Amino acid sequence: MNMIKHSIVALSLAAIGAIPAFAASQVNLTIDAAKPGPVINKNVYGQFAEHLGTGIYEGMWVGPDSKIPNTKGWRNDVVGALKQLHVPLVRWPGGCFADEYHWKDGIGPRGKRPVKVNTNWGGVEESNAVGTHEFFDLADMIGADVYVNGNLGSGSVQEMSEWVEYLTSDSKSTLANLRRKNGHDKPFKVAYFAIGNEAWGCGGNMSPDHYADLYRNYQSFLKAPQANRPKMIASGGNDFNTQWTDVLSTRLKGMTDAISLHYYTIPTGKWAVKGAATGFPESEWMATLANTLKMDGILKKNEEVLDKNDPEKKIGLFVDEWGTWYDVEKGTNAGFLFQQNTLRDAVVAALNFNIFHNHAERVKMTNIAQMVNVLQAMIVTDKDKMVLTPTYYTYQMYVPFQDATSLPVALSDAAPYALGGTSIPGVSASAARAKDGKVYLALVNTNPGEPAEIAVNLAGAKVSGASGHVLTAAAMDAHNTFKAPQAIKPAPYSAKAVNGKLNLTLPAKSVVVVALEG
Ligand code: AHR
Repeated sequence: MNMIKHSIVALSLAAIGAIPAFAASQVNLTIDAAKPGPVINKNVYGQFAEHLGTGIYEGMWVGPDSKIPNTKGWRNDVVGALKQLHVPLVRWPGGCFADEYHWKDGIGPRGKRPVKVNTNWGGVEESNAVGTHEFFDLADMIGADVYVNGNLGSGSVQEMSEWVEYLTSDSKSTLANLRRKNGHDKPFKVAYFAIGNEAWGCGGNMSPDHYADLYRNYQSFLKAPQANRPKMIASGGNDFNTQWTDVLSTRLKGMTDAISLHYYTIPTGKWAVKGAATGFPESEWMATLANTLKMDGILKKNEEVLDKNDPEKKIGLFVDEWGTWYDVEKGTNAGFLFQQNTLRDAVVAALNFNIFHNHAERVKMTNIAQMVNVLQAMIVTDKDKMVLTPTYYTYQMYVPFQDATSLPVALSDAAPYALGGTSIPGVSASAARAKDGKVYLALVNTNPGEPAEIAVNLAGAKVSGASGHVLTAAAMDAHNTFKAPQAIKPAPYSAKAVNGKLNLTLPAKSVVVVALEG
């Protein structure tokens, strides 16, 4: 019976072409449940929503008068889908947009708000229909905390300090009363507040020292009541450059809770021609995965710097922008960063989650770029239609890892996946004890051509089986469209131990998340 169940999964996967006929390589995996590691902060599963393209307008916000069913202007289908992901936190309003956003443009009667030009993203008109109150409505509806990114680049100390007062003050000050007049009696709860974004680039082309001086100046005037103080984030560097982490962790000690870091996965590694989101060759599957796996080295390098400057580990490392960045889809506005999302993106997301879990001690927040219709999105919309992307499903499968306690995993005998002179690990794994008490195991088979056979050991405990979901498809670029919205979605996955041994078959190019049964 046990074998039969396992075979049924294998057969149905074979039926969709996911398992070729040849034998899988054997990998030994041991989880040491007796040596719990740090808790994986739920904010590792955070999102990012910027005023960019149709990421907010159309994609999420349609306005209360729209024919598209909505609540307080936010589309019901998108809100419903996001709720399923248990989104812990959303970063808003940018990105580059944050450094040209003036918060007072986004309060008061919507019809009277100034129309601006979104100079970073397509030069389109920004109606300011979505402002502070609207965004907090969305967060309330999906049950997420809010991470507000303040404008350092083109704002002022006064403007930023007044926003913090407007958001957090319970006094009878003119600004707090203005918030009440605009419909929010109680102060908003701002979980995190960042001073600027990418100050080395679109946020002002600064040096780290100049930014550190400005941060110290701005931070001195952001005065929230003690009981409602947002945690502060300093905007850091990107990629392998650790200079920003070094300068900021030295000069902002005691003044910041975290330093941010950005890293995007680009198949070719070149901004000019990044590679297509669909219809790519296997060489670009490999290059994308190899580039995304660099996240581990980037985190290690930055953590070494932090360990030197902040051995007490008071400063977090927040990857508040990451994900795939491809050439935009043909016929779309180049400034809207719209790209299709495939099985490759689902695998990229899972590989990054497994890396983030290993860095849980410092990496307590990440924000994928971005939530809807922009870059590696969860959801794609067109007018009243919506589809869920493969990346959405990876997030859904990993929900049990939110606030779970990481567990060490050892992999041996794992054959690498090699192609054209590049080689990466064939299997990536991560385990944790979730809040429901169960041990969860997440696995990725990076090889698009061969399944992998995993012999699972839970040190010091018996495992009788595993159940959860698998995400895979016949094509590397399998994706959902409005015509075929369910072309790729997770399938149930289960296996039983035979003679005390639990073997899991990972189809080629797949993500599997299971709960182990005792
Ligand atoms: O996510 C898109 C853009 O990428 C953000 O606005 C910016 O911070 C980064 O360069």
